[in-house]
Amino acid sequence: MEPGTAAGATVDARLDPDVPPEGYVLDLAPEGVVLRGGSEAGLFYGRQTLARLGSPPPCGRVEDAPRFAWRGVMLDVARHFMPVPDVLRFLDLIAFHRLNVLHLHLTDDQGWRIEVPGWPRLTSVGAWRSSTMLGSRVHGRYDDQPHGGFYTTDDLREIVEYAAERHVTVVPEVDMPGHMQAAIAAYPRLGNGFDGPVRTGWGISTHVLNLSPETLDFCRRVLDHLCDVFPSELIGIGGDECPTDEWPGGRELQADFTARMAEHLAGRGRRLFGWDEILAGGAPDGAVVAAWRGVEPAEAAIRAGHRVVCCPDVKLYLDYRQSDDPGEPTPVGTLLTLEDVHAYEPPDSPLVLGVQANIWTEHMESLRRVEYMAFPRLCALAEVVWGPAGRDFADFAARLPGHLERLDALGVNYRPLTGPRPGDARPGAPGHPRELADRLAELHEMTADLRGDQA
Ligand code: ACM
Repeated sequence: MEPGTAAGATVDARLDPDVPPEGYVLDLAPEGVVLRGGSEAGLFYGRQTLARLGSPPPCGRVEDAPRFAWRGVMLDVARHFMPVPDVLRFLDLIAFHRLNVLHLHLTDDQGWRIEVPGWPRLTSVGAWRSSTMLGSRVHGRYDDQPHGGFYTTDDLREIVEYAAERHVTVVPEVDMPGHMQAAIAAYPRLGNGFDGPVRTGWGISTHVLNLSPETLDFCRRVLDHLCDVFPSELIGIGGDECPTDEWPGGRELQADFTARMAEHLAGRGRRLFGWDEILAGGAPDGAVVAAWRGVEPAEAAIRAGHRVVCCPDVKLYLDYRQSDDPGEPTPVGTLLTLEDVHAYEPPDSPLVLGVQANIWTEHMESLRRVEYMAFPRLCALAEVVWGPAGRDFADFAARLPGHLERLDALGVNYRPLTGPRPGDARPGAPGHPRELADRLAELHEMTADLRGDQA
């Protein structure tokens, strides 16, 4: 920056095809400010920077552009329903960090959260459970309180529009053919004989979809509805953790299912987005893979020629505990500190679209709890996906307190750098921390099929 201050009042903002997509150039001079953006998103980010430079801003030039096109967060609104105002606030907070994808996990064994025309019981039955497990499965505790909720089509359109105004793409996911117990509770004919309620405990239900022509048509109708509501090119079908206990055939049935869903989406001009289990047996051409089972599946997806969003659990699952402090709320998973998130680097490949953090909400019963788990680790993610590969944690840590003042002004319930406050603990919902070495061994075993495919 040169000495002197720029006249902040006059901003001449324009699009400039020579500026990278989503990038911007700010020229700050005593006569005024010129902002050039590679796109409307670039102008949006340029205005954010200008606001952070203070008033009046110092003179000089700022040239800036993101490293990755996919700067994402997944929010699980199935395990705990988040009302629309909470989703809108979350969108504000992620846009404030220049993240541009909100992957919404809309359905799971424990709740179905969207209206689908012609299938009213998905919401009248599937959106509600009678009780919720408290803490890790190993403790077997429940709260005996009904929980639920769902988004109307108007709600979803509002979320999509609000996100677009902030240059965030909402990528919807309906998890299939596993993680479907809520839908099967609503319509037992979709299942394999199960006639029970929406699941109240955590973990993976063995009650999965049958793969009859009628059930595949149901899945196509659900995907049609997603295509009608969400303009995203990518439409999520989940595909993770599908037990095959109820199927006469084996895993290859799932690959066939995924291929049919991809074909249907292609007919609507969209592409399939799925968790890395869709690599088993060969993912459909053009499918984008969310690589989550540790760091190996991203490499497997790249070897198979798929574009990939990297979200390895041991690096980027924000439900995992932030410290070993006994006051952390429901400590689960492996230790994942702010520094760990900041240090994450995806594989260096043009097939890497970007990176996302995943927020599974089994142990987050409110947006306030989501904020505690998300921040400041999402601030670190924002640096991973926007800035260059070589990052310096000390530099980030020196800038962070100033940024936390902004989050204070926004009333964000971030985790204090000094550790949890006494009120953050959730002794009624006890956790089950894991050791990294144990989890890595488990992941290596879980992904053996991917290595076999490549052999
Ligand atoms: C996942 O964590 N089951 C994608």
